[in-house]
Amino acid sequence: MVKLYNEFERVLVDEDTIQSRVTELAAQISAEYKDAGSIVLVGILKGSFMFMADLVRQLTIPHYVDFMSLSSYGTSTESGAVRVLLDLRADIYGKNVIIVEDIIDTGNTINYLHTMLNTRQPASLKTCVLTRKEDKAKGLPVDYLGFEIPDVWVVGYGLDLADRHRTWPFIAELKPEVYQ
Ligand code: IMP
Ligand code: MG
Repeated sequence: MVKLYNEFERVLVDEDTIQSRVTELAAQISAEYKDAGSIVLVGILKGSFMFMADLVRQLTIPHYVDFMSLSSYGTSTESGAVRVLLDLRADIYGKNVIIVEDIIDTGNTINYLHTMLNTRQPASLKTCVLTRKEDKAKGLPVDYLGFEIPDVWVVGYGLDLADRHRTWPFIAELKPEVYQ
């Protein structure tokens, strides 16, 4: 544990702050879709698993969860072309869909995903993203955003560096020497 903590520059968003923001997002989504019948939340694995689990437990409207797994051809910290490793189980045609993502860095992944899922003709398609690197991904369509963060590498609460540090209940900034 001590060794792992040594890789952190600082805790960027602590557990209480994450949980209160998730409560707000769930309330906002519940209010906006209260007459929609039901919604489908599409979580992008693995990064969104914790955010998804906390978010859905606070929704007060009928909902379903489904997951996709994507892979980028890039290196561990650089984005590349996107490939679908695991597709949705269910058809989203005519459904109210919300993509649940962990982070927007360049915007590559969410752009690809949004375009691809739109071709399946959902009734509506929105995005709920835990963190966005401010300045870097301006102008991208995010309907529900947890936190704007600086352009640093973050881990925890689902986010990883080469699959490490995913399960912390907070979001931490890594020391640059760990990922550069
Ligand atoms: P984008 O396609 O450049 O927006 O990058 C999105 C993907 O890169 C996310 O789904 C993450 O898997 C990964 N990513 C980008 N920045 C970070 C970070 O700071 N920590 C952990 N994963 C990141
Ligand atoms: Mg990742």
